[in-house]
Amino acid sequence: MNTAMDMSNDSTKTRVCPWYMAYTFDNGLRGFFHNPAAILGPYVSPGMTVLDVGCGMGFFSLGMARLVGESGNVYSVDLQDKMLARVKNRAQAKGLDSIIETHRCAEDSIGLDVKVDFALGFWMVHETPDISAFFREMHAMLNPGGHMLVAEPRIHVSRRFVTNEQALAKEAGFSVAAEPKVRLSRAFVLKKDQ
Ligand SMILES: C[S@@+](CC[C@H](N)C(=O)[O-])C[C@H]1O[C@@H](n2cnc3c(N)ncnc32)[C@H](O)[C@@H]1O
Repeated sequence: MNTAMDMSNDSTKTRVCPWYMAYTFDNGLRGFFHNPAAILGPYVSPGMTVLDVGCGMGFFSLGMARLVGESGNVYSVDLQDKMLARVKNRAQAKGLDSIIETHRCAEDSIGLDVKVDFALGFWMVHETPDISAFFREMHAMLNPGGHMLVAEPRIHVSRRFVTNEQALAKEAGFSVAAEPKVRLSRAFVLKKDQ
């Protein structure tokens, strides 16, 4: 149970974005709204190991791969095989498949035994079944000094919900380092202190 506010939702079916819905926002128009280099550039640099959790069809995974380059690694993680298959196809088509590794997770656990320098949770944290447990797992996966950028869709995640997400992240050991402007979103950056 989340302590700051009851943010639980027991139905996976109503909570998780179905694969076919991803085409409504991850399409040829996305680049007009979201520029991965501008949004993630302050936190992601060449050679880093980074995580795109709830990666969907991989719009940001591709951008992260360009930022970390050949000497870096991107773990693209999602619940849904169809999302991950699309990430693989796009990575191959763009010549980024040597940088991006896909991983199918369970709903309540990432299940990857790696440490990362940066994590992204874009339009996905509100879909997780236990937000406290999610932030605890993210905190354990991040290297000291690492950042996590969370962005939630403004259209159906309220300011109050996001304030409570921040409280849960702080309980997990993070500090809130920034609240950058990201279009169509409510965004914040978490820092794992040294
Ligand atoms: C609205 S989509 C956003 C996709 C992507 N981040 C983007 O911005 O294009 C949310 C994604 O989070 C995934 N997801 C939901 N709950 C998850 C969980 N507990 N663990 C991992 N992925 C999850 C869904 O399968 C879906 O692909």
